[in-house]
Amino acid sequence: MKISTAIVQKQGALLNIENAQLDDPKPNEVLVKIVSSGVCHTDAAGRDMGMTPYPLALGHEGAGIIEKIGSSVTTVRPGDHVVLSFSYCGHCENCLSGHPANCVHLNELNFGGHNFDGSHRIHDESGNDISTFFGQSSFSSYSVVDEHGVTKVSKDVDINVLGPLGCGFQTGAGTVLNYLKPEFGSSIVIFGTGAVGLSAIMAAKIIGMDNIIAVDVYDNRLKIAKELGATGVINSTIENPNEIIQKVTRFGVDYSIDTTGVPQVIKTAVTALKPSGVCALLGIAGDVTFNIQQDIMGESKKVVGVIEGDAIPQLFIPKLVNYYQKGMFPFDKLIRFYNFKSINQAFEDSANGSVIKPVVKILDD
Ligand SMILES: NC(=O)c1ccc[n+]([C@@H]2O[C@H](COP(=O)([O-])OP(=O)(O)OC[C@H]3O[C@@H](n4cnc5c(N)ncnc54)[C@H](O)[C@@H]3O)[C@@H](O)[C@H]2O)c1
Ligand SMILES: [Zn+2]
Ligand SMILES: [Zn+2]
Repeated sequence: MKISTAIVQKQGALLNIENAQLDDPKPNEVLVKIVSSGVCHTDAAGRDMGMTPYPLALGHEGAGIIEKIGSSVTTVRPGDHVVLSFSYCGHCENCLSGHPANCVHLNELNFGGHNFDGSHRIHDESGNDISTFFGQSSFSSYSVVDEHGVTKVSKDVDINVLGPLGCGFQTGAGTVLNYLKPEFGSSIVIFGTGAVGLSAIMAAKIIGMDNIIAVDVYDNRLKIAKELGATGVINSTIENPNEIIQKVTRFGVDYSIDTTGVPQVIKTAVTALKPSGVCALLGIAGDVTFNIQQDIMGESKKVVGVIEGDAIPQLFIPKLVNYYQKGMFPFDKLIRFYNFKSINQAFEDSANGSVIKPVVKILDD
């Protein structure tokens, strides 16, 4: 079928809304009419870093309505509201043991640009292949995705706000609720108060953590962090995070999370831990040097990478929606809407820090 989709033709280029052809869903796939899609920092990485071959149709926080299902699909039906999330195989050891975000095929399925069988489902008007992103490419009028890639959600909630649950909000909240599982009354410091960091803060508040410290370079973001549950905030351009953390917690925090991807900040996130503390790395980052004896092993610290909050989207996203409906996970406060034609502005406003979670309305245009 003919679709309208936002394509990056070459590394670092702006997104351009173009006509393309989308294949019919295979037996294990569904066709989704996209209503809106969040913009995640990882979309900008896909645009600029070249990890997925170009031309590339971006978007991986889609929300929409099931239009058609493949012959073997049983979990959703036409008319269902769904959130699109990351792609996983469902068959490997990690998928089968309840950790699809650690799927051994995760990189191939989400960043390889093609389907599991090597084929492409999006083509330009001359029939040339276009890469998919996260198995969804949701900055599009329609997406075809594997059944594993959709989560049915309640129709009682405005579908326009739900897309970011598929990545950014799930990642921050899931890292706390599924992975770190902190004890009631324990302490955490969260570096970076974008969509991922702020959803981690909301989750820390849900659990009843005692000290929830937020660090950023923007006062406007730290103000929101406080509103959402941070018990203390640090602007690291003015104050030294470690001095304050040591003062507040005495021996350091139980947990830290980095969402900045900045090497120096990652080092601070490890220093901030008390002995045996756990640091979860969520931001895309390059090389960082540690002295293993002094910084990690000598104090039994753990430094771990966590993908997509170690979530099973089909179980976790409905829980987050439930907490949202109760007013305990008010992620809609972070959203600003854009029309489809303004998609590059949405990316720009995310990059310059003025908007925390841009969401592009696709159906409106
Ligand atoms: N692990 C995963 O599965 C996963 C999923 C989604 C996003 N991500 C990644 O997580 C990161 C965060 O995503 P986001 O959407 O929240 O991005 P974002 O850009 O909105 O948030 C990053 C925050 O870090 C702050 N920051 C930057 N430099 C800093 C510094 N030196 N000190 C303190 N704060 C600083 C920024 O001001 C910003 O508020 C990105 O790298 C993104 O690609 C990872
Ligand atoms: Zn798998
Ligand atoms: Zn993302």
